[in-house]
Amino acid sequence: MCTNPRSPLLLTLVNTLRDETLTPFTFRHTLKEIAKILLNEALKDTAVGVKKIRTWSGEREVEAIDESRIMVVSVMRAALPMHEALLETLTDATSGFLAMKRDETTHESTLYYDRVGDCTGKTVIIVDPMVATGGSLCDAIDVAKGKGAARIKTLNIVASPEGIAEVIKHHPEVQIYIAQIDEKLDENKYILPGLGDAGDRAYNTL
Ligand code: PRP
Ligand code: URA
Repeated sequence: MCTNPRSPLLLTLVNTLRDETLTPFTFRHTLKEIAKILLNEALKDTAVGVKKIRTWSGEREVEAIDESRIMVVSVMRAALPMHEALLETLTDATSGFLAMKRDETTHESTLYYDRVGDCTGKTVIIVDPMVATGGSLCDAIDVAKGKGAARIKTLNIVASPEGIAEVIKHHPEVQIYIAQIDEKLDENKYILPGLGDAGDRAYNTL
């Protein structure tokens, strides 16, 4: 299932990312702002529980999301600002990290670092700004499923139509929240118009 929330603010922020004169700092900052908007969309169907807190007017039961049941998983590197943004909001969420490398010739991704713990009973929110061929996101979903995730949602910023179709084909039950679906992939499997290499742009990698 793919949700493409649209709003003037989201559109403006995504198009801000396209400006190649953006500094790495502003690029990361904008990824974070978009991640928080997508998070709000993704959590709209989350059941709220009740917790007891002490307020100025005494002990009360208030409704809140049980954040300990949420795990944020990011695919390094470009997703790290999104990950940080989610933890700023969900301060009790747990975290997992994956690293993958896309082969320059075959464009297939290989998982080389997996620091995702047991996901049993958890809602896993996978963040990655780019869905190009969809290979990396499919692999990340496979990891979360393999570790027992109860529910999987993904927050992504720019995707190709091909990439989204690939993820839906392999994981139809996963809820994908995408800020912008672009035109197509180029011959190097980069998204057009896209953002370029999001990891390099976020961290000024040479
Ligand atoms: C980007 C992006 C995704 C992947 C998408 O990472 O963050 O993980 O490419 O491509 P796919 O859909 O074809 O698998 P990249 O490999 O550029 O790594 P980086 O974040 O370290 O730059
Ligand atoms: N990785 C990126 O960072 N950008 C793309 O367009 C494709 C893969």
